[in-house]
Amino acid sequence: MDLWKLGFFISISISLTQAIASSDLSSSYFEGGYFGFENPEQKNTTSSRRQSSVPSSSPSLNCGAWDNDCSEQILALAKRPETVEWLKGLRRRIHENPELAFEEVETSRLIREELDLMEVNYRFPMAETGLRASIGTGGPPFVAIRADMDALPIQEAVEWEHKSKVAGKMHACGHDAHVAMLIGAAKILKCREHHLKGTVILLFQPAEEAGNGAKRMIEYGALENVEAIFAIHVSHEHPTGVIGSRPGPLLAGCGFFRAVISGKEGRAGNPHHSVDPILAASAAVISLQNIVSREANPLDSQVVSVASFNGGGNLDMIPETVVLGGTFRAFSNTSFYQLRQRIEEVIVEQVSVYRCSATVEFFEKEHRFYPPTVNDEQMYNHVRKVAIDLVGPKNFKVVPPMMGAEDFSFYSEVIPAAFFYIGVRNETLGSIHTGHSPYFMIDEDVLPIGAAAHAAIAERYLNEHG
Ligand SMILES: *[C@@H]1O[C@H](CO)[C@@H](O)[C@H](O)[C@H]1NC(C)=O
Ligand SMILES: *[C@@H]1O[C@H](CO)[C@@H](O)[C@H](O)[C@H]1NC(C)=O
Ligand SMILES: *[C@@H]1O[C@H](CO)[C@@H](O)[C@H](O)[C@H]1NC(C)=O
Ligand SMILES: [Zn+2]
Ligand SMILES: [Zn+2]
Repeated sequence: MDLWKLGFFISISISLTQAIASSDLSSSYFEGGYFGFENPEQKNTTSSRRQSSVPSSSPSLNCGAWDNDCSEQILALAKRPETVEWLKGLRRRIHENPELAFEEVETSRLIREELDLMEVNYRFPMAETGLRASIGTGGPPFVAIRADMDALPIQEAVEWEHKSKVAGKMHACGHDAHVAMLIGAAKILKCREHHLKGTVILLFQPAEEAGNGAKRMIEYGALENVEAIFAIHVSHEHPTGVIGSRPGPLLAGCGFFRAVISGKEGRAGNPHHSVDPILAASAAVISLQNIVSREANPLDSQVVSVASFNGGGNLDMIPETVVLGGTFRAFSNTSFYQLRQRIEEVIVEQVSVYRCSATVEFFEKEHRFYPPTVNDEQMYNHVRKVAIDLVGPKNFKVVPPMMGAEDFSFYSEVIPAAFFYIGVRNETLGSIHTGHSPYFMIDEDVLPIGAAAHAAIAERYLNEHG
């Protein structure tokens, strides 16, 4: 996620004490578990043990109609100590070896190894390093859950045992945790495959931070047959395990523009022999401010910011060109594309008043164009319902929209979708820094809760739509 720092969460410190009285049923799951990557021999033993441990006909495990027991069973699976250790181990391995957009080769390999161990089928490659796994009947309905795999070009400043081993690269947005949580969900869902009334699609996508990985995944068929999609993002604004979301617009659409304004070079002391692009560009900057203040509905938040303005370097010369640029944000598709159009019109028309010409580019080919992330009302309600069951009503928050952007929006443009946050804030641990900070860290206790949230959202969706 981009520009995470602009978020304003309502932080309420409620610990998850009520979480999950241990279920009697839990002991029949995850027997052994394959939590040791260092010890490959474990694989053989445990995969057979695990298979025999999947209950098939115990009536007490029947989630024919979804009820609170199902949530508890899922959470109990996720919270088994060996599962928690395994999830932390996965996350730490990924954290130590961060890979940037479309380079997630080892991360992708790790995911596939885990899925192989669980005997989960997947389609690979998609969009270079991405994959689409499926668990369930193989038939409709299909519901998708998604994780992003890429890290950021940031040097980690946190000193800890599992610090990034790659200079200048870091999982500073928590995508390492997203991957671990989705693998955890795969394991839970595989154990409960006999309950599934349809098919869960697990999408591991590259390049969320740069490159529009989600868009590429869709081009590769990631959403084939899929009728709804959900994704998690960790948040330092909420205490660990608190889940937050909202219906409708959640994250802004985000675009960038750059305009080259051309006039005619000349001596500054004889301005009448030149065509001044500095004056033209200045007028354009002023006029750009009128788009939001005069044309946008005041109840529909939008931003146009000019962040760069470069002209000549000689104090005695009027330059040939000025280059200016900036960013724009909006929460609805209509407003977002409207801004794009008006920015271009205003610059071109305004500089023409001063006899200059302008070309404006929007970096669409460079994938710096993110539509708004809009939560479908029904999908939001589904997340809310599942979250309240899982973590309790006090640990679910309706959050305000934020100006940050997410490439999950490419999915939410195509099918009903909901994006939600899960808290990782823990002052004792020092987990208080925003995403994209070199000091970013998470409270790993979030991992089982996130895995359970993914699994419960998917299983319950199928239960209610199958
Ligand atoms: C796992 O079992 C297979 C087949 O029995 C064997 O070929 C392989 O070497 C075993 N792997 C390990 C790590 O023991
Ligand atoms: C958003 O608007 C653009 C331009 O009008 C259009 O091409 C696109 O299909 C719209 N997307 C959605 C989800 O409405
Ligand atoms: C923060 O982490 C510490 C150490 O793991 C733990 O004891 C505490 O319960 C956590 N606090 C919250 C709010 O999760
Ligand atoms: Zn990010
Ligand atoms: Zn992110």
